[in-house]
Amino acid sequence: MIVAEQVSDVRRAVRDARHEGLSLGCVPTMGALHAGHMSLIDAARRECRHVAVTIFVNPTQFGPNEDFAKYPRTLETDLALCREAGVDLVFLPAVETLYPRLFATFVEVERLSQILEGACRPGHFRGVATIVLKLLNLLQPDLAYFGRKDFQQQLLVRKMCRDLDVPVEIRTCPTIREPDGLALSSRNRFLSPVDRQKALALSQALRMAERSLKEGQRDVVAVAAAMRRHLESTPEVTVDYATVANPETLEELTAPLAEMVALVAARVGSTRLIVNIPIQLESNS
Ligand code: PAJ
Repeated sequence: MIVAEQVSDVRRAVRDARHEGLSLGCVPTMGALHAGHMSLIDAARRECRHVAVTIFVNPTQFGPNEDFAKYPRTLETDLALCREAGVDLVFLPAVETLYPRLFATFVEVERLSQILEGACRPGHFRGVATIVLKLLNLLQPDLAYFGRKDFQQQLLVRKMCRDLDVPVEIRTCPTIREPDGLALSSRNRFLSPVDRQKALALSQALRMAERSLKEGQRDVVAVAAAMRRHLESTPEVTVDYATVANPETLEELTAPLAEMVALVAARVGSTRLIVNIPIQLESNS
């Protein structure tokens, strides 16, 4: 496994792999790897001859009052996990490598970057789009893997690649959860045992929405309100949004569609968590 910190090293490794005619898969991460990340790496391993993982806690996607400094960094374990999973290349740049002094160019995906997560975290998706485009330009993968867990992020990346003609295929992989339903997240380690229990309210709210829509509830606004009420009834849970949306545009729905996505963001104590589930209604025809 090659571990590259410099742009020139990563470019050389990519050139060598391409020279051998290998298909290249890329998994962008911020490290603190868990089974969710590993599922993306496994998907890349199955489809691509050469697998690159990037580990970079991207400062431009964190707001001034967010947890950039506190974000978990577990480099040795991450590298061991990558090695075990058969990763070929790990790109591990320093902040100054990707954002040298006087860096001035950012990517803005209009509308999609301003709603839901974007409304709660101004500037977040500008940072995500910028770093993902930089990583795709550096690694030039055939395929890039993202988690459904960050539903809006994978939509935004797809839109950016379409709009800017980035020659990559985006794969979206299912959310990996704990047996009790909690979606795996690098931030879960900040939850105290008590908050960990309270965090289950998020996946419960999603399941409630799914059940009621599948049972024929047609008032989607009422379904979203019920999710919010369920969350707000849990002490120390503060809701940012709880909604049912069109999975292609993220427009909030008032009437059901055959395919929908329920999305929730909430703070549990001081830890902010986001989750979603796809909801499919069986057609009667
Ligand atoms: P990070 O939070 O490290 O996540 C890296 C990738 O792992 C993302 O595509 C995310 O959706 C996926 N992932 C996280 N938890 C998951 C889970 N429980 N199941 C399945 N996939 C999961 O997302 C980022 O980093 C950054 O924004 C990044 C895209 C790397 C840009 O900086």
